[in-house]
Amino acid sequence: MEKPDKLIKRHKPLRLWSYAFAIICIWTLFILISWIWLTQVIASGALETARIEARTAFRNDVIYRRWNASHGGVYAPVTPKTPPNPYLKTDHREIQTPAGIILTKINPAYMTRQVHELAQKTYGQKNHITSLNPIRPQNAPDTWEEQALKRFERGETEVSSMEIIDKTKHLRFMRPLIIEKECLTCHANQEYKIGDIRGGISISIPMAPHEAIESANVTTLSFIYIFLWIIGVSGTLLGIFFITRQIQKRHQAEEQLLQHEKMEGIMEMAGAVCHELNQPLQTILGNSEIMLLDLAPDHPLAKRLNNIQEQVERMSKTTRNLIKITRYETKRFPQGRVIDIVRAAKEGNASKTDGTPK
Ligand code: HEC
Repeated sequence: MEKPDKLIKRHKPLRLWSYAFAIICIWTLFILISWIWLTQVIASGALETARIEARTAFRNDVIYRRWNASHGGVYAPVTPKTPPNPYLKTDHREIQTPAGIILTKINPAYMTRQVHELAQKTYGQKNHITSLNPIRPQNAPDTWEEQALKRFERGETEVSSMEIIDKTKHLRFMRPLIIEKECLTCHANQEYKIGDIRGGISISIPMAPHEAIESANVTTLSFIYIFLWIIGVSGTLLGIFFITRQIQKRHQAEEQLLQHEKMEGIMEMAGAVCHELNQPLQTILGNSEIMLLDLAPDHPLAKRLNNIQEQVERMSKTTRNLIKITRYETKRFPQGRVIDIVRAAKEGNASKTDGTPK
């Protein structure tokens, strides 16, 4: 009989395990690629929320400026922090209240500058109003802003990119400021018309809070993916393990069946031989009986004939016993024929066998 381990070799569980290895490799690759893809989705989500924050800040600036421009500028008391704007060339720039307080006209850009200073002090936000053609030289753009303003001239409406400011990551964002009807009160002398790009406001958003959310999301995602990976790998290993075991069991059963069939064959043959032997033995017995009847009991041959009869009796007893064993019943199963031991034993013991194998 083949040993089980030899059987295992024959059915190449090694090949199955290499399938498992391939499945695990593909699974790992899939997990890795989708993890990278999703982390990029999360990162671009963080970038987009930073952009939305910048857009909101820009819109606020624009709307308060529009309010100011709609009044043609608004008056505020002159203080050391709010001196008259030397670049504002207009009548009644300074006025005096009946109580003697001197007020100066605050144009939208002046207001914006002061608000940006306040925002920097309060929130550390670095925003800047600028133009390629500044009335106030200090409003001149830096290199990044200059590039953005040139892109607006070419028709772009928004520019943003990731920049390092003061060693920390910032989203730099800029949108143009467009000449509207109210703006012409003061900017008409520069030959601007409605719809022209007067300049722009650049907004810098620190990325730290957005990145904190991003990394929290990436951590959650990573845990989920590690979990999924483990499930996939252990599922594959378990699956292959059970399949291999099943195959082993099946082949063991097949092997046993084969063994049974061989045994059965041998038994059937033995049964046939016994059957064949029975007849001549009976003939010998019968003839010797007749011969004994013809002889006187004290005849010297009678003793020999008795001896023959005894031996023949012994032989037929042996064949009968053999037939008893060969009476093993066989039953048909889907897998093949197997010996019904219970029935065989019962019948073998109960019946005085006629020596015919079934
Ligand atoms: C009351 C007058 C006044 C009005 C109205 C006005 N501006 Fe100005 N603007 C100025 C003055 C003066 C400056 C000069 C620099 C400063 O104050 O920073 C200026 C500066 C600017 C700047 C900064 C670049 C530079 O030239 O120094 C931009 C951009 C700008 N204005 C756009 C606008 C737009 C757009 C409007 C309409 C919504 C507008 N302004 C309305 C007076 C005005």
